[in-house]
Amino acid sequence: MRRFLWAGTAISVMAISAAHAEESVEVLHWWTSGGEAAALGVLKDDLASKGVGWQDMPVAGGSGVQAMTALRARVTAGDPPTAVQMLGFDIRDWAEMGVLGNLDDLAAEQGWDKVIPAALQDFSKYDGHWIAAPVNVHSTNWLWINKAALDKAGGKPPENMDELFAMLDNFKEQGITPLAHGGQPWQDGTLWEAVVLSEGGMDFYKKAVIDADPEALGGETMRKVFDHMTKLRSYFDDSFSGRDWNLASAMVIEGTAGAQEMGDWAKGEFLRAGKKPGEDFVCIRFPGTQGSVLFNSDQFVMFDLGDEDKRAAQLKMASAVEDPTFQVAFNTVKGSVPARTDVPDTEFDDCGKKGMKDLAEAAQGGTLAGSLAHGHGQPSSVKEAIFDVVTQHVNGQISTDDALKRLPEAVAAAM
Ligand code: GAL
Repeated sequence: MRRFLWAGTAISVMAISAAHAEESVEVLHWWTSGGEAAALGVLKDDLASKGVGWQDMPVAGGSGVQAMTALRARVTAGDPPTAVQMLGFDIRDWAEMGVLGNLDDLAAEQGWDKVIPAALQDFSKYDGHWIAAPVNVHSTNWLWINKAALDKAGGKPPENMDELFAMLDNFKEQGITPLAHGGQPWQDGTLWEAVVLSEGGMDFYKKAVIDADPEALGGETMRKVFDHMTKLRSYFDDSFSGRDWNLASAMVIEGTAGAQEMGDWAKGEFLRAGKKPGEDFVCIRFPGTQGSVLFNSDQFVMFDLGDEDKRAAQLKMASAVEDPTFQVAFNTVKGSVPARTDVPDTEFDDCGKKGMKDLAEAAQGGTLAGSLAHGHGQPSSVKEAIFDVVTQHVNGQISTDDALKRLPEAVAAAM
C-alpha cells in the first residue's frame, strides 16, 4: 500500500513539474530601470501565482529601440520569443506580417471591446482582430520638478514657456542644473514633441506630426519650436550627451537638477526612491500643454508559435494583464494609468489621478494624440527621420534654418 502511495506521489509530482515547465513565457521587454523593474516584478509575481513561469529577455534602452532590433534578430533566426512588449505602429508592422497570435476569443470572453479605450484599440487590433493586450497608458507631456527647488523659486509651477524659462533661470541661480536631460534621440524627440504641442497646440501637433504636413513641419510655428529647443538646451549640464533617462530623473530626485521633461514612467523612479508627489516632487503637464495628452501604451503581443502549450501560457498572460486588480497593482508602480476605463482611481496617487482624469477628458474633447517619440504618432521610419533632425539640432550640428528645411524633406523621404 505504502509503495503504491509513493509511486502515485512521484507520478503526480512529475506531472506537476512537467506542467510547470510547459506553462512559461519568454518575455522580451525594455523595463530595466529601477521603477520599471519594480513594475515588471508585479507582473512576474502575478503570473507565478497562476503557475506561469517567466523567462526574462530584457533589452535595455528607453523607448525600446534596441529591443526592437533584438526582436528582429530573434525572428530572423526563426526563434521569436513568446511575448513581446511593443508600442503602437510597431505592433501594426508585425501584425501586417501575419506572425502574431489572435486574441479574439479571450477578448470576447473578457469584454475588452467595452473597456479598452478606442485610441488603444486602434493599435491592439489589426483587421478587426485583437493581436495585442495593452497593459497601461503612459503620456509624455509631463514636467517633473524637485519640490524644494520649486519652493525656493517661489513655489508656483510654470504654466507657459515664459514661466518655464523664468523658473529655469531661478534654478540656475540656485546653482543646480536647471533641466535634467539625456541626449539620446528618443529623449530629444520626447522633449521636442512636448514643445511642439506647447507652442502650436493640439491642432498644430496633429497637422505637423500625425498628418506630416510639410508646411507645418517647415513653417513659422516650427521655427519657434526650434528656437525654444535652442533655449532649453542652454539649461542642460555639460554631460547630458548619451545619458539614460532614469539617470536624468535621479538628478531631480537628488536635487542636483531642478526639473525633467519626461513621460510618466519617470514617476516610477521617484516612487522607487521613496519620494512622494506634492511633498518631494511636483508633476505638471509640460507648460502650455494643459488639457492635451500625448499618449503611448505598452502592449504585449503574442507571437504565433504553433505550439499549444505555449499558446495556453500566452493566453494566461494576456488574461492576467487585463485583470482590473492587476491593472491597479501594476500601474501604481509603473507611473502609468490603467488600460481599461472601468478601473477606479482610488489607489492612485495625485499624479496618477490627474493622469487618469486628463486622459478621459482629452479622449472626450479631441485633445488626445499619439506620442511620436513613443511609437504612436508615425511608423518607425518617419519617427527616426524626425529624431535625426531634432537630435542634430539639439547637438548644435545644424541651425534652425537647416532644421526647418530638412524636417519636411526627411519626413517625405521616409514616408
Ligand atoms: C516607453 C515605454 C515606457 C517606458 C519608457 C522608458 O516607450 O512605453 O513603458 O519604459 O519607454 O523606457
